[in-house]
Amino acid sequence: MVNYEVTVYTGNRGHASTVNNVHIKLVGADGESDLTWLKSLITWRGSVSTYTVSCPNSLGRLLLIELDKRQFVLFPDDAWFPDKVEIKSPENDVYTFPVHCWISSGEAHLSREGTALRIFDESHSLGHNARKKELTRRSADYEWDSYAPGVPHTIKADGPRTLPFEVQFSFTKNTEFQFTAVTGLFELHLKGLACNQENWKNLDDINAVFHNKDTPLSDYVQEHWMEDWLFAYQFLNGVNPTLIQRIKTLPENFPVTDEMVAIPDGSNLSNELKQGNVYLCDYKNLDGILAHSIQGRQQHLVTPLVLLHKRPDDKLMPIAIQLKQTPAKDNPIFLPTDSTYDWLTAKIFVRSAEFVEHELHAHLLRTHLLAEIFAVSLLRNLPMVHPLYKLLIPHTRYTMHINELARDKLIGPTGFFNNFAASGGEALTKILARSLSSITYRSLCIPDDIADRDLQDIPNFYYRDDGLKLWSIMFKFVQGVIQYYYKSDDEVQRDSELQTWIGDIFQYGFLSQPQSGIPQNFTTVPELTKFVTMVMYTSSCQHAAVNGGQYDYGGWMPNNPATMQRPPPTKKGTTSEATMLETLPPINVTVETMAILWLLSRKSSDFVPLGHYPEDHYTEATPRQLQKDFKAELDMLSIEINNRNEGLEIPYTYLNPEYIENSVSI
Ligand code: FE2
Repeated sequence: MVNYEVTVYTGNRGHASTVNNVHIKLVGADGESDLTWLKSLITWRGSVSTYTVSCPNSLGRLLLIELDKRQFVLFPDDAWFPDKVEIKSPENDVYTFPVHCWISSGEAHLSREGTALRIFDESHSLGHNARKKELTRRSADYEWDSYAPGVPHTIKADGPRTLPFEVQFSFTKNTEFQFTAVTGLFELHLKGLACNQENWKNLDDINAVFHNKDTPLSDYVQEHWMEDWLFAYQFLNGVNPTLIQRIKTLPENFPVTDEMVAIPDGSNLSNELKQGNVYLCDYKNLDGILAHSIQGRQQHLVTPLVLLHKRPDDKLMPIAIQLKQTPAKDNPIFLPTDSTYDWLTAKIFVRSAEFVEHELHAHLLRTHLLAEIFAVSLLRNLPMVHPLYKLLIPHTRYTMHINELARDKLIGPTGFFNNFAASGGEALTKILARSLSSITYRSLCIPDDIADRDLQDIPNFYYRDDGLKLWSIMFKFVQGVIQYYYKSDDEVQRDSELQTWIGDIFQYGFLSQPQSGIPQNFTTVPELTKFVTMVMYTSSCQHAAVNGGQYDYGGWMPNNPATMQRPPPTKKGTTSEATMLETLPPINVTVETMAILWLLSRKSSDFVPLGHYPEDHYTEATPRQLQKDFKAELDMLSIEINNRNEGLEIPYTYLNPEYIENSVSI
């Protein structure tokens, strides 16, 4: 007889333990063990237990293990979450089998030995069969579903609780999330505000609600929101830094003249355009979309053009706003020299368009929905033993669960947008479809995006500065891992699983739109490296950039109105404080928006920061070292960003690696 020493590691997470019986079978190249009961198995979260499995002869190189959990009489059936199983063979070789999933009674769970293998590395039929079986099961568990015409597909589910257990929120995350949601709304209901459809009588009244839920930056925004510099600053470092671009000529539909705008130091607009000091934010994506009706009342959505000037002191300032796309007499170009309320009203309308462009396009579509596409395609096409599954699976954590919640509570028929936002109802899917058509591969890769928007040298652009550094660190890490596993372009081309992964992303995510520039297959190692970097960056950094500041900049409603109750002014001199208050969202919309943004800005206690890999999917030294190097570089960047922020009036924290989560999870 020969003995195998089996060490079982139970995950360190809530409810990971089991009181049930567990059996194990070891499968090697030369045979398999009997299904062996792990006697006296006592697991609790984080426990490590060792057993002996005896066999008549050596099993040769170990390929896989089978774990079989059975309910113990008189004890409740419970799911068990082992992290990994380590086995020391009679030849003194140590094999590691990553598990990292919930195991229920009644179904034997196969785990492969941890060395990453591409499909053409499989040298044993057992490996091929296990691979096939795993992907068949996953394809049934993770089916595609179409959401609406022109919108990316989603996971097929009927709410988060119908998702496979392994991708649902943990008990901790779920409890905290529900607690924040319930207490936030309960407080507002107690104050009788959530049912109050009246308009605000005075901006100061908003403060009574806002006072209970604020951050240092949301207080600052409340104080300075009317100031032009903060209005402009938000296009660079606010919650949506993805729209601004430098222009050398004005768009034909935005006829601002030299005479209209005041440029300091004797210059004029034409000169400043030539000098590269003029920037544009164009909300043409929203053109022609009919706004939704709320409580039987037609709401209003504008499609502004905003012109900005970089002054000699490096401050960016707004210099002209046109609220609709087609120039006309009843579509005036508003200027800072107009009356206080004309100019302020124009800026508020821009912020209302920004609410839509940010939440639906930059945030929901470009991060949440794309991250879900990457995740579902990964789970359907790459088995656990694939090197890129090991690389990318940590960046899919909770994404399907939060998106299912969003489909139910935010964008569904009874969700927030339908009840409270001008962009709800039919407008919502039209905006999403139009936004998807506008996405290019280059716009998802920050170095290309910054170059295409000609923003390489605009000062005080911390989203760009931090984002480019993060991309560079991440690219180096991904390149290291990919070059370790793929020695030639030919190996990339021969990896059929990788090809179906990208094929599904192109088909189900980008709806086979070739103008997106999304690759339809991979032919070279550099091509693969860039795409995988983009996937990881989108699911972590880009989401952090557009998610983290939601309450900071959106908590104070006048800076972030979800709807506008009156149409934009058609001539100058018709606005006042009274018209502004009639135009802004009513009390119930305000408080519901605040409660949701508060919830979406909370950090969970089981937050996993970028570059932390609590689950050991890789067992080989090289990728494990690359993970350590990645984390070390991110730690250095955090120090650099913290030092930089000490000297800033508004610290830019959203792309500090300390605050970036590995995945889209909120
Ligand atoms: Fe988010």
